[in-house]
Amino acid sequence: MITYETMVQGERFYLLLGPFLISRKVRRELGMAISSDENYRWIVALDGERAVGFGAVELCGEAVQLRHAYVIPEARGQGIYGEMIRRREDLARAAGFTLAQTVAAPASVPALEKHGYAAIGSRGQYTIMEKTL
Ligand SMILES: CC(C)(COP(=O)(O)OP(=O)(O)OC[C@H]1O[C@@H](n2cnc3c(N)ncnc32)[C@H](O)[C@@H]1OP(=O)(O)O)[C@@H](O)C(=O)NCCC(=O)NCCS
Repeated sequence: MITYETMVQGERFYLLLGPFLISRKVRRELGMAISSDENYRWIVALDGERAVGFGAVELCGEAVQLRHAYVIPEARGQGIYGEMIRRREDLARAAGFTLAQTVAAPASVPALEKHGYAAIGSRGQYTIMEKTL
């Protein structure tokens, strides 16, 4: 069974996500290095004590930003990313935000459309998408 934890950058964050933070494969798939600061809230998907997915929401500015979503290849296609979208939106709503944006990699555009995001622009191969929460 997959469980989900919300966390900020701290001891447990590094314990669970450390291997991903230094992985060249993950960086290649994400198209960028993972970053975080005090405005970030992280959702970590766990199979027992093993992280199988994660995603951040940056709570600041006019619109929150969904960032750095990743699911390990063997856990894909089970709805983990979808659940992490929902949970990050819930965090944003609870913090009083009404708009979410994301810079979507090609692989995540269909899922984001299904979750109500619409394209508002592009940056190279990435699609800038937005949703009213
Ligand atoms: C993109 C990625 C995060 C998807 O993770 P995943 O857990 O396999 O995705 P899910 O199984 O949750 O699918 C997401 C949703 O999109 C839907 N979906 C998937 N492919 C779809 C398609 N082609 N058309 C319509 N809907 C689709 C799924 O049904 C699911 O819906 P739900 O949320 O209602 O359950 C994963 O492939 C990954 O980590 N890729 C590498 C890193 C990356 O590209 N990150 C995205 C950065 S923006």
